[in-house]
Order: sequence, then structure tokens, then C-alpha cells
Amino acid sequence: MSPAAVTVRVPAKVNVQLAVGPARPDGFHDLANIFLAVGLYDEVTATPAESPRLTCEGPGADQVPLDESNLAARAALALAARAGRPADVHLHIAKDIPVAGGMAGGSADAAGALLACETLWRTGASRDELLAICAELGSDVPFSYVGGAALGTGRGERLAPLAVGGTFHWVFAQADGGLSTPAVYRAYDRLAASEGRTVPEPEADPAVIDALASGDAKALAAAVHNDLQAAALDLFPALRRTLDAGTEAGALAALVSGSGPTTAFLAQDADSARTIARALTPHCRTARVTTAPAPGAVVVGQ
Ligand code: C5P
Repeated sequence: MSPAAVTVRVPAKVNVQLAVGPARPDGFHDLANIFLAVGLYDEVTATPAESPRLTCEGPGADQVPLDESNLAARAALALAARAGRPADVHLHIAKDIPVAGGMAGGSADAAGALLACETLWRTGASRDELLAICAELGSDVPFSYVGGAALGTGRGERLAPLAVGGTFHWVFAQADGGLSTPAVYRAYDRLAASEGRTVPEPEADPAVIDALASGDAKALAAAVHNDLQAAALDLFPALRRTLDAGTEAGALAALVSGSGPTTAFLAQDADSARTIARALTPHCRTARVTTAPAPGAVVVGQ
């Protein structure tokens, strides 16, 4: 018998390395993208319904589109189309991941919706088939599904899992406002052109991979790098002050998360993370303390 409702929990991510190549003819950029899943989660609940329906609650829910432009809705439609069945499901998203924050919240919801619908409908899609649907939906969606840590190449959707040898303590500061991912990539291209720089092909940094594997926060702090940071700061200069406030409060590393405007701070331990969060509070909407790695999409109720 099919369950009456399925709830899936799915994590946010931070990019501990985001190396961005030149713009490709299709408008995307080749990446060397080292993803780390962190313990901030959205929950997606799928319930049988007469017709497709999408609702959303939580901070920033009013900015989440509830039509077919929502990645979670598109995930349900893609799975239903593949299985030749109607997408007769009510998806409810309980948001905790910052909206438009550079933490892959929309991608998380897509991965969560896909696993919730598959668990509800039992279409028989394999994990690889579900990951292929994830890749069609967006560059970050496959990682949201698998969690942990991984190197993403191509536009970020081709994943190789990475070992993580310990717990990393993070603080995430949510900015007042959002940044559009395409706008940040465009600013990246513009900055490179205006500086007359040739953008090299992106390469994964072994120092980042080794630091993850050893669980060494100081080594990871020395190696983290986000090529989109300068572009995000160009579009959202106030983030510089937030980064500085985290560094002054003892963060081992301070960086823009993905395309921003959420900023990420690596801390030595849980106590230091709490100190950094307190210092950041005047500079942001909310400062959240969490740890990594986190698991990918997982069914938490049915
Ligand atoms: O794949 P996704 O829908 O998340 O990408 C959103 C936008 O971010 C793309 O339309 C593109 O402008 C930019 N992007 C990019 N190169 C990537 C990933 C995303 O230029 N590898």
C-alpha cells in the first residue's frame, strides 16, 4: 500500500572550493565545485492530491514561487512524466535553508520532492535514474540528493564523492536580501573581461580535498576558495563588513557561500562558532550555527 504522506529532509550546502571556468557556449560555466552538505535542512512532504499543488512555510516562504517554475514542482512533474502517471501530489515545503542565499535551498527542495514522490509512487526509478533527473533540474540538485562531500565537475552535476574525516563547525550569516545566481555568474564574466584576465580551466585543489579527508579545520580554512566571491561582493558590497566581523570574532575562514549573499564562517569548535554567531548578529538577518558533513535527502516520515 502507498503511504498517506512522505516527508523527506534535505540539507543545505557550502562550497569549500568553487573554481569557475570561462563561460561555455550554452551560457553555463565549467566548474571544479567541492560541495559540503551542512546541517541546515528543508523538509518536503508529498501527499496524494486531486491535482498538483505546492505550498511553502518558513522564513522567506513569501519569496518562493508556487507555480511550475519551482524546482520542487518540476521534480514531481519530471518523475511523473518518466513514469507515465499524473503528478497528482501536494508538495509542502517547510523552509529553513535561506531563500536565494547561495546555499542551494531550491535545489534541496527539488531533490527532496523527487525522493518524496518516488517513495509515494514507487515508480521503480533507480538511484542513478533519480540522479539523472536531478541533473536535468539544476546543477546543484544531484549533490543535494547525495549529501556528504563531493567534487562536482561539468556544470557541477557530475559528482565524485569525497571522504570527510571529522566534524567541521560553521556559522552562516543570512544577508538582508538575495542575489540571483545568473547575475553573479554574469558579474564574474564581466569582472574577468574588464581586468583583461584569461579565465583558466577550473581544477580541484588537492589541499581542499586533503583537508576534508583529514578533518583538519585549520587546513581547510587555509585552502577554501570561492571564485564567485569577488562578483558577489561587487553586487552586494555590504557583505565585506560581515566577512570582516566574522574574522574579527575568530573565524578561521570567512567566505561567500556559493553565489551568495549568505556568508560562511569556519570555526575551530562549537564554542567559537557560537561566539562568531553572536558577533555577526548586528551585521545580518540571522546567524546560524551548524556542523558538516550532513547526509543527503532522507525519508524522515511516512
Ligand atoms: O543549474 P542552475 O539552474 O542551478 O543554474 C542557475 C544559473 O546559474 C544558470 O542559468 C547559469 O546562469 C548559472 N550557472 C552557470 N554555470 C554553472 C551553474 C550555474 O553559469 N556551472
